[in-house]
Order: sequence, then C-alpha cells, then structure tokens
Amino acid sequence: MAQQEDVFKKIVSHCKEYGFVFPSSEIYDGLGAVYDYGQMGVELKNNIKSYWWQSMVLLHDNIVGIDSAIFMHPTIWKASGHVDAFNDPLIDNRDSKKRYRADVLIEDQLAKYDEKIEKEVAKARKRFGDSFDEAQYRATSKNVLEHQAKRDALHERYAAAMNANDLNELKQIILDEGIVCPISGTRNWTDVRQFNLMFSTEMGSTADANMKVYLRPETAQGIFVNYLNVQKTGRMKIPFGIAQIGKAFRNEIVARQFIFRMREFEQMEMQFFVRPGSELEWFPKWKQTRMQWHQALGFGAENYRFHDHDKLAHYANAATDIEFLMPFGFKEVEGIHSRTNFDLSQHEKYSGKSIKYFDPELNESYTPYVIETSIGVDRMFLSVMCASYKEEALEGGETRVVLALPPALAPVKLAILPLVRKDGLPEKAREIFNELKFHFNCQYDEKDSIGKRYRRQDAIGTPYCITVDHDTLEDNCVTLRNRDTMEQERVPVAELDHLLADKVSLTSLLKKLK
Ligand code: GAP
Repeated sequence: MAQQEDVFKKIVSHCKEYGFVFPSSEIYDGLGAVYDYGQMGVELKNNIKSYWWQSMVLLHDNIVGIDSAIFMHPTIWKASGHVDAFNDPLIDNRDSKKRYRADVLIEDQLAKYDEKIEKEVAKARKRFGDSFDEAQYRATSKNVLEHQAKRDALHERYAAAMNANDLNELKQIILDEGIVCPISGTRNWTDVRQFNLMFSTEMGSTADANMKVYLRPETAQGIFVNYLNVQKTGRMKIPFGIAQIGKAFRNEIVARQFIFRMREFEQMEMQFFVRPGSELEWFPKWKQTRMQWHQALGFGAENYRFHDHDKLAHYANAATDIEFLMPFGFKEVEGIHSRTNFDLSQHEKYSGKSIKYFDPELNESYTPYVIETSIGVDRMFLSVMCASYKEEALEGGETRVVLALPPALAPVKLAILPLVRKDGLPEKAREIFNELKFHFNCQYDEKDSIGKRYRRQDAIGTPYCITVDHDTLEDNCVTLRNRDTMEQERVPVAELDHLLADKVSLTSLLKKLK
C-alpha cells in the first residue's frame, strides 16, 4: 500500500514537472481542488475528449452532439432535484476546526476493517506457504470472523442511516465507532448537517432584480431541456442519443487524490432516449459499449470492473460504475444509469410545457426513458496517467521513466532530433518538421545529447522519435525509434507520414470498437 502511495506521489509530481497538470493559482498558494492543465496536459485531455466524441457522434448515426450553456434557468435545478437533494452530510471537529464528510469518515472506518482482514490473511499466507487454503482460512479464522462481523454490522447500520437520511444516526455511528479527527485526534464532533454541493452566483445588474443562478453540477440537464429541439431540428427517431462535453462544478467538502475529486471538472455525458419499457434492454448494451471503449486503450482488462449499485436513486431502475484500478484502489471513472423518464417528466411538470415525443411507428406520444453514460474527463485523464507511468530498469543499471501512453492519446506523436547542432543537420530536421507538422503534433528538439532528448520524449509519452544524421543528407533516410521497445530502424523521410499515420491516429483506435 505504502509503495502504491509512493507511485501515486511520483505520478503527481511527474504531471507537474512535464507540464501536464499544475495546481491552480500556484503563486498564490493554490486553490483547493482546482487544477490547470499545462502544455502537455491540454493535448492529452483534448485527445481523450476526441476519442470519446468521435466514438459517440461519428460511430453512431443516431447520436448527435450539443454544447449547452453553463448557466441555466434556476428552476431546472429545482426540477432535477439538485436544489433539495444534491447534498453531502458534513461534520466538523471542534478542536481542529476541520470539516469532513460524515459518510466518508464511516467508509474509511469500513476500509480499516477490510485492511485488518487482509493483514490477517497475508500473515497466514506467509505462515502456511504453499499449503495455504485461503477460502477455508477466511471462513474459519476467529480473528477474521470477528473483524468481518464488526464490518458487516457497521455496513448495515450505515446503509440504513443513509437510506433514511438519518443525520443523528450518522453522528452516533461516528461516536460509537470511536472515530477520531485525523488532525486533532479528538472525538469532539458537531452534529451532522446537510451541505448542498452547488455553487451559486447572481445574474443581473441591480441588487433587487438579481436572480440566483447555479453553476451546473452536471452537463446532463442541458441535454434534457434541449432534447426536443434536437429531436425536431435533427429529425431524430427514437432510439437516439445526445452527447455533450463540458465543465461541471461541485463544492466538494472532501477534495483529495489530486484530480480525482475536483471542484471544477469536466464531464462527457450522453443521454440515450428510448421507448418506455425498452430501457433495461439498452442498459446492458451501453454497459458493454462503454467497457469496450475503455479496454480498447490496452491497459489490461483486469484493471477494470463494474460495480453495480444495490442502492438506487429513487428515479433510477439500474445503475453501474465502471471502476479502474488506480494506485489507491478500484475507483469510479464512469457511471451508467437507467434514469427512467424522471428528468423529462420533472421538466414537463415544472415548465408546464409538453415535451413528449411523437412516435410515428406506434402512432402515439410518450415521455422517453433515458440511459445515461457519464464519464469525468479528469478522472479518465488520471486513469490514463496511472496506467501509463512506468519506471523501467535498463541494462547497465540505468532506469528510465516512460509514459507508455496509447499513441493515439499521446500529446506529441513524433520528435524530430538532429544528431548534432551543426553541419546542416538542424536545417534538414527543420525541413522535415515543416512538412510533417501538417500531419501530426511534432516537436523539434536540438538541445542536449541524443540520449537525454530520448529520455525527455519518453517522459511525455512521445511514441516515436526520428534522428537526422549525416547520412540523412545523402540518402534522405532517418532513424526511427520506438518509445516502448527502444528499437531503431532506418526509414526514408518520404515514407514517414504513411508509416506513422496508422500507428498514431485516432482512427486506428476507433476501429477497435466494433
Ligand atoms: N449526470 C450524472 C452524473 O453527474 P456522477 O456519478 O455524479 O453522475 C459522473 O458523475 C462522473 O463525473 C463520475 O463518474 C466522475 O468520473 C465524474 N465526477 C463526478 N464528480 C467529480 C469531481 N468532483 N471531480 C472529478 N470528476 C468528477
């Protein structure tokens, strides 16, 4: 575990050192849970967004995109339930003056029981060696059973309190479990209160005519309130989908794990409108489609899993998360939800306008049901960084840090390096750069030894480097180096475009999606 924490720290500092992610407002000591993307980060982020957008909008002839505004009429958030119910239960420690999410404190406590169980099992595995029967040990060990019983009882009590929205019970659980503040070490807790996660501001120029507006906490509502505009103007027939990428804002109480939980972040959401009653046929199809999108990146199927929700929001009739194995455990990257007709019905009710769809095949009007796929760009970015960051031991005792990004996502596709900074090699390299820059994101670099330059490109994940040497001036060939194998081959300059296009383009990645 400690080793994994170390890896995560290294990834965070790598992100900063190589221009992927910077803390926001750093020269003013930063702003909690807000981050900026640097020169490399923005390219990687844009590539992730293109991969998603193209897989949705280009590969499905019944999905189109929109870009709705961040500000929306405040009644939208009343209708969607966010004004009344988009809350986290928070608790303060009176001694440290620190604020926590009560549910997170209890979930951390559950994780502690899990850790205790795993420690017991690891100790026994060491003790018994090859003859160790793990299943039998888990079923019979007194210590394991004791921890498991405590965990189960806590889980049951916690789930009941959350379902009943019982804030007093949440506090009582924290007291009964003896949970202390990690800063002060005391149990001097306030009562638990609900805290709404939406940011608000005022729209208008005079004090009395101002209207309270919210920064959207999800992009989905911009799709719901536009679905009929799109359906009519695009002559869409059910089933059809609307995709959107955009910023969302949540005043997260506990913001941790770098860009995993941010206050300003980006979502890629798609709402798929279907006939009532067919939603549970579409739900598994979208689960499979989305899992395939993740796995096509080649990070290994074992690093993903579904986490089906047992506790469903009142408007959902199925929900699952796609989780990815981060250095801090399996974590949600994407949610897939069968949201029934809840949102559209609520907007009909609150706006007083009919937003029913007329189905020409059935010759009837109805409020469509919706399957939603919702993924955070920043979480996806983090999962890509975690999966790609590698420290490799080389022959001769040297190590190299390499970002083994899928080539289609890499910020820079090709580095063009003159072997030396003289004899006409920079001019020749510039000439090649000026030709290839129309095809790929290329970088020209002539500073430092060739070895150092390769390492710099490895660290930002550039899949290919070419070296321009003295022979290039004679035979118009260059040395092409592969980032992952470090193998080199001699290729004609005229063939570079053709040779690399297939390897680094999004098209080759998209073609893996059937
Ligand atoms: N429209 C549905 C919706 O917003 P969600 O599960 O609250 O569902 C969807 O969010 C995705 O958005 C999550 O799976 C996650 O990837 C991302 N996300 C949510 N809150 C986030 C935060 N504070 N920081 C970064 N990403 C976040």
